[in-house]
Amino acid sequence: MAQIIDGKGVAAQVRADVAKEVARLKERGVTPGLAVIVVGDDPASRIYVNNKKKACAEVGIYSEEHALAADTTLDELIALVRALNSRGDISGILCQLPLPNGLDDRAVIENIAPIKDVDAFHPANVGRIMLGDYHFLPCTPAGIMELLHHYGISAEGKECVVVGRSNIVGKPMSMLLLHENGTVTTCHSRTRDLKSVTARADILVAAVGKPKFITGDMVKDGAVVIDVGMDRDENGKLCGDVDFAAVEPKASYITPVPGGVGPMTIAMLLKNTVTAAKIQNMID
Ligand code: GUN
Repeated sequence: MAQIIDGKGVAAQVRADVAKEVARLKERGVTPGLAVIVVGDDPASRIYVNNKKKACAEVGIYSEEHALAADTTLDELIALVRALNSRGDISGILCQLPLPNGLDDRAVIENIAPIKDVDAFHPANVGRIMLGDYHFLPCTPAGIMELLHHYGISAEGKECVVVGRSNIVGKPMSMLLLHENGTVTTCHSRTRDLKSVTARADILVAAVGKPKFITGDMVKDGAVVIDVGMDRDENGKLCGDVDFAAVEPKASYITPVPGGVGPMTIAMLLKNTVTAAKIQNMID
């Protein structure tokens, strides 16, 4: 029987800390502000953006949404980003991904001022993370590290296996576990004999985007299992990348879906926005 990692509860604590920090900044005349850009009408993006705006309001962060039509040109998008870069009331800029077909997300991200890049997707911030000298961490991996710390789970010397190598989750996740002295293996769709690798993991992070991809036989007894997935099962019900029913009895700790990693992602975005406001206004 695993201990269920309560992402909702830990995220509420992070949000409460952020709210206190926002209040402190406001006393000094600074209101952190987040600009959220969303292009087109992807329903999942719409939900994420609404949740991000709501979370900002709850902790006192100013937010504004820039909802653009799917046929927006790259030049228009870059012009918007540059205008937001130069605004003193905007501490953080986030462009919700994926962008509609034909729009180059790298070109957009590279135009966000690194100090306002609260997703930590800009190459300058990615490089800083690689070096272990950063202002911001990407929200999902940062949220996972926060959960591990909260539950007193150390990566030191452990076999850490990350399944998935996306720029948003898998790659930075591997780097953060490495910074904390884990022995890290990053797996992907070309990994041979995946099961033999995942079965070695003391800490297993699943970020593949395939429902119930991690089955019971892929997990070692006593492993810590972190599920980044937000998938739909065969009945259209929300589920993760981990087959929870089969894996939970073997794991020592496991994140549920929903209520595990998901709530942490937004909490860390709020934290990054406050960090950005502090740096831009030279407040410790
Ligand atoms: N799409 C999926 N996850 C993310 C994220 O963390 N940030 C942005 N901007 N888009 C996403």
